[in-house]
Amino acid sequence: MARPRWLHIFAIFLLVAFLVLSWYSLHEKERSEAIQRGEEVYASHDCTDCHLPAHVLAEKLRRAELSLVRIRRKPEALHQFLATDQRHESFRLMRQQDQEDLIQYLLSLVPP
Ligand code: HEC
Repeated sequence: MARPRWLHIFAIFLLVAFLVLSWYSLHEKERSEAIQRGEEVYASHDCTDCHLPAHVLAEKLRRAELSLVRIRRKPEALHQFLATDQRHESFRLMRQQDQEDLIQYLLSLVPP
């Protein structure tokens, strides 16, 4: 009776693979929505007074060039910098969700 056991194992394997893939695609969807919202946050604050507009940053990313984010490439370090640097006061005044989305967007600009 070896066959039914293998069928069981295979069925469990398929189920686990399905769950992992579902979780992954949901996670990716949430991430890309956050990045999109973050781009809107970037475009609707004073960021482009001093930095390049989002469409130019997108073009640089397509060419795999570094652009806005060069030094602080970890969320904590970027958050810490923007929250304490005087020129970035508008960041401190945002609601927390906008800050998180903006950070996700900024980090998405770093070429892989
Ligand atoms: C008054 C001009 C000014 C404004 C407005 C401004 N920045 Fe900056 N920003 C700077 C300067 C100057 C630097 C470089 C400072 C440094 O690296 O020490 C910088 C650096 C940065 C960096 C680079 C961090 C790194 O580690 O490479 C990021 C990201 C950034 N700004 C995002 C933003 C965002 C997002 C906004 C809008 C909320 C914004 N900036 C608004 C002047 C500005």
